[in-house]
Amino acid sequence: MRLVLFGPPMAGKGTQASMLAEKLCLLHIAMGDLLREAVAANTSLGRKAKKYMDEGALVPDAIVVGLVEGKLKTSNSEAGFILDGFPRTVGQAEQLEQFTEIDLVLSIDVPFDRLVGRSTGRRSCRKCGAVYHIDFKPPRKPDICDRCKGPLYRRDDDKESVVRERLRAYEAQTQPVINYYDLRGKLRFVDGDKSIDEVGRRLLEAIYDKWPEAEARVAKAEAAMKAGVEQKPPKKEAIPGIKTRRQQGRGRRGFPRDRKKKAGGQPQKKPRHRPKKKK
Ligand code: AP5
Repeated sequence: MRLVLFGPPMAGKGTQASMLAEKLCLLHIAMGDLLREAVAANTSLGRKAKKYMDEGALVPDAIVVGLVEGKLKTSNSEAGFILDGFPRTVGQAEQLEQFTEIDLVLSIDVPFDRLVGRSTGRRSCRKCGAVYHIDFKPPRKPDICDRCKGPLYRRDDDKESVVRERLRAYEAQTQPVINYYDLRGKLRFVDGDKSIDEVGRRLLEAIYDKWPEAEARVAKAEAAMKAGVEQKPPKKEAIPGIKTRRQQGRGRRGFPRDRKKKAGGQPQKKPRHRPKKKK
């Protein structure tokens, strides 16, 4: 199952993609999240991307295509994947075709005047990337993620002026991608101007049309959720080329891991930090 969730900024791609990925056990690749992680890690790619993102412009194809290709090569996508926010130009769609095929593109349609309103209420989790809305999908505790208890924040590019710029970029550069997939018979439109649950239901219907066997898989996942089987937050995938602290053999505070335990398994005393004496 190789899916693309398509639509303008704020259409609900991230919200729906994470729900679908959980129910269908698919790998979720969110291009905006990958770029924000690179910006937060201050990598050279992140520094290059940041100036475009701050202005609401699209990051050059050469940067984003490499990110997706690396991610697909290094992650487990056996059951399939959902691309959220990629491709956004015809050039990206053409390059994507060089390394993988796409089965279905679901375009979430929302009138533009609704989108700006959604941006003011969006809150995102700094730790796991979960998306909330203060009116339409509020967290149980204000500013705390239900899933991982991480802090919620407002994205820098959710300022109204930047959102308008993002919408302009969508009209000029991303809308032509609709034709690209329509001509190839892979496109389905879904009305996104409904409640979050209703949009999710319609997206699933479109998926069942193509893969009827998916309905049983989703029913099983939904039953497990209802029965209260703990759903672990999806593991954050590493950014290709960047080693995590664990991969570097370092602990939470950056000390080498083996410092923490002696040979007998006893925890070793932390070195004390002594403030320098003032002269
Ligand atoms: P990215 O993070 O992908 O931003 P985007 O496409 O503009 O989409 P958003 O994340 O803003 O919205 P969404 O559709 O995921 O909606 P969400 O579910 O959050 O990209 C950021 C930037 O990175 C781009 O501007 C660009 O610079 C760069 N970039 C990314 N990909 C690129 C690429 N391929 N090429 C070049 N550059 C790239 O929902 C929005 C809000 O609405 C939430 O609060 C949610 O709770 C709420 N909501 C969702 N559904 C509903 C509903 N049905 N009713 C009411 N509220 C709803």
